[in-house]
Amino acid sequence: MGRLFVFSLECVAFLLLLYPVFSLARPLPQRDPVYLNFVLNATDLPSEDYYDYIIVGGGTAGCPLAATLSQSYRVLVLERGGVPYGNQQLMTQEGFLTTLTQVDTYDSPAQAFTSEDGVPNARGRILGGSSAINAGFYSRADQEFYKHSGVNWDLSLVNQSYEWVERGVVFRPELKNWQSAVRDGLVEAGVDPYNGFSLDHLVGTKIGGSTFDSSGKRHSAADLLNYARVGSIKVAIYASVERVLLASLSSSNATTRLRQSAIGVVFRDQMGRYHHAMVKEKGEVLLCAGALGSPQLLLLSGIGPRSYLSSWGIPVAYHHPYVGQFLYDNPRNGISIVPPVPLEHSLIQVVGITEAGAYVEAASNVIPFTSPARSVFIRTPSSPLFLTVATIMEKIVGPLSSGSLRLASTDVRLNPIVRFNYFTNPIDVERCVNGTRRIGDLLRSRSMDYFKFREWFGTRNFRFVGPALPVDQSNNEQMADFCRRTVSTIWHYHGGCVVGKVVDNNYHVIGIDALRVVDGSTFSVSPGTNPQATLMMLGRYLGLKIIKERTRLK
Ligand SMILES: Cc1cc2nc3c(=O)[nH]c(=O)nc-3n(C[C@H](O)[C@H](O)[C@H](O)COP(=O)(O)OP(=O)(O)OC[C@H]3O[C@@H](n4cnc5c(N)ncnc54)[C@H](O)[C@@H]3O)c2cc1C
Ligand SMILES: *[C@@H]1O[C@H](CO)[C@@H](O)[C@H](O)[C@H]1NC(C)=O
Ligand SMILES: *[C@@H]1O[C@H](CO)[C@@H](O)[C@H](O)[C@H]1NC(C)=O
Ligand SMILES: *[C@@H]1O[C@H](CO)[C@@H](O)[C@H](O)[C@H]1NC(C)=O
Ligand SMILES: *[C@@H]1O[C@H](CO)[C@@H](O)[C@H](O)[C@H]1NC(C)=O
Repeated sequence: MGRLFVFSLECVAFLLLLYPVFSLARPLPQRDPVYLNFVLNATDLPSEDYYDYIIVGGGTAGCPLAATLSQSYRVLVLERGGVPYGNQQLMTQEGFLTTLTQVDTYDSPAQAFTSEDGVPNARGRILGGSSAINAGFYSRADQEFYKHSGVNWDLSLVNQSYEWVERGVVFRPELKNWQSAVRDGLVEAGVDPYNGFSLDHLVGTKIGGSTFDSSGKRHSAADLLNYARVGSIKVAIYASVERVLLASLSSSNATTRLRQSAIGVVFRDQMGRYHHAMVKEKGEVLLCAGALGSPQLLLLSGIGPRSYLSSWGIPVAYHHPYVGQFLYDNPRNGISIVPPVPLEHSLIQVVGITEAGAYVEAASNVIPFTSPARSVFIRTPSSPLFLTVATIMEKIVGPLSSGSLRLASTDVRLNPIVRFNYFTNPIDVERCVNGTRRIGDLLRSRSMDYFKFREWFGTRNFRFVGPALPVDQSNNEQMADFCRRTVSTIWHYHGGCVVGKVVDNNYHVIGIDALRVVDGSTFSVSPGTNPQATLMMLGRYLGLKIIKERTRLK
C-alpha cells in the first residue's frame, strides 16, 4: 500500500514536469473555471487603459453584469479581493463559520464589521462577493418587491434573467435529518401548504435552491463569469477602487448647467501603485461594491451630503443628501439547541414563509470545541469537545427601521461606520414577535421530539445553547424584549443608495451621467426570503437592458 502510494506520487510529479511541454496555457487541471483565463493580478494592469464598462466590485450583482456586457462591449471588473476557487474552506459548507471568524483588516475573504448597534456582521471581499462566503440559500423575490421597488420591471426579462442564473449556479439540495424535521415541523405548526421544492416565493413551507451542488461544492456569482466573452473582459483582483473620476462636460445645450459625468476610476494594486481605468465614449462606470462599498465610494468621490463631505475636506462634486441614508438590516432572532444525537452539517435549505411578516429558516453546525466559530451563532457557548448545534431562526420582512452609514476614514479599505437602528419601528417588533412565536410552535411540533433530551424522571426537554424563548409566548412584552435582547444579523443588510433617492428607476445616479449603482445598496427592502437570487438576477437584467438601450440608440 505504502509503495503504491509513493509510486503514484512519483507519477504525478513526472506528469507535472511534462505538463508545460504539452500545454501553452497555464498549468491548470481540467475542470478549473473558465474565468481563470481572464482574471489577473491588478499589478499587471497598465497605469491607464480604456474600456466601455468599468465594473467596480466583482460581487453578487457585478459578476453577472460583467459577463453579460462582455458579450457586446469591452469590460473591466475591479475586485479588491482574490478568487474563491481553490480555497477549500470557502468552497464547502463546512467552512462557512470558520470563514466568518477568520477575519483580518485587509486580506481575509470575509471582512468583519460591527454596527453601532453592537451586532457583529460581515461582508465579502473576494471575487463573487458575499455570494462566495454566504449560506447558499437561493429563493426568488416576492411579488410585492417588484411592485414597491420603484422600478418598472420587465417581468418577462426578470424571469429570463433568473433562469440564466439558475442554469449556472443553482441546485436542488438533498435534505438530511435536521432540515427534514424542520420542514415537517413547520407544516405541523401551520406554516402551510407544503410546496415541495420551488425557487418561487410561495406562502407556506418549501425547499429552496442552493448554490452548493450535490457534492457539497460552492458555486457563486464568480461562476457566472464563465459565461463572459473571453476576448472582451478583464477581471483584475486585488484592485482597490478609491474613487470615481468625474468631469464637467460642456454640453451643446447652453440653457442647461454643466453636467457632471463619470469618466473613469482610480484604483490601487497590492504594491500600492495607482492606476486609472477610463471609460470610452458612451461607456459607463457601474458601482457594484455592495451596500457598504457603493455609498462609501460615492462619498469618497464627492457625491453626498454637502456639509458632511465638507467636514471631511472632500471637494463636493454633487450635493446628494441621501447617499448613505436609508440603510437597513433585517434582524435575525431565534434559538439554538444541542441535540442528543449527532447531526449532519447543514446550512439553510428549507424556509417557512408566513403571512405574519417573518420567514423561518434553520441550520445545523458541527463545531469543534476550540473554534471561535461558535460565537457567530451562539452568544453564550457551553463547552463539550464537539458541539452539534441546531439553530432555528426567523428573519423579518422589510425591515422598516433604518439607519445610515458614514465614513470612518478616507482610506477605502476601512469599513465605514454603520448603524441599523434595529426595532426602532414598532411594526418590526411585531413582525419579530410573530416570527419567534412561530419558532415556539415549531418547537412544540411532534417532528421536534427527536431532538430533545430525556431527563431521568422521564420528561423530554430541549437543551438550549444561549437564550430560550420566553415561557409565556403569548406575552407581547416578553416576546418583544426577547427580540431586542437577542438580535443578531442574517447578513441581508441593504440600502445606502436606494432607488428614488440616490439612483433613478434605471439605476443611474441622479444628476450624474455615465454612473450607475447596481447592487444591494439600491434596495429599500430585502427581496424575498434571501436576497442573492434577486441580486444575481439584477446583474443579468441590467446588463441585458444596457445592451438593448445602446442598440436602440445606434
Ligand atoms: C455570511 C453571509 C451569509 C449569507 N447567506 C445568504 C444566503 O444563504 N442566501 C442569500 O440569498 N443571501 C445570503 N446572504 C446575503 C447575500 O450574500 C448578500 O446580500 C449579497 O451577496 C450582496 O450582494 P451585492 O452584490 O450587493 O454585494 P457583494 O456581493 O458583497 O459584492 C460587493 C463586491 O464589491 C467589492 N468591493 C467593495 N468595495 C470595493 C472597492 N472599493 N474596490 C473594489 N472592490 C470593492 C467587494 O469585495 C465585493 O466583492 C449572506 C451574506 C453573508 C455575508
Ligand atoms: C500580485 O503581484 C504583485 C507584484 O508582482 C505580487 O507582489 C503579489 O504577491 C501578487 N499577488 C498575488 C495574490 O498573487
Ligand atoms: C415569471 O415566473 C413566475 C414563476 O416563477 C410566473 O408566476 C410569472 O407568471 C412569470 N412572469 C412572466 C411575465 O413570465
Ligand atoms: C436644454 O435642456 C433642457 C433640460 O434638459 C431642455 O428642457 C431644453 O429643451 C434643452 N434645450 C435645447 C435647445 O435642447
Ligand atoms: C402578526 O400576526 C398577526 C396574527 O397572525 C397578524 O394579524 C398581524 O398582522 C401580524 N403583524 C404584522 C406586523 O405582520
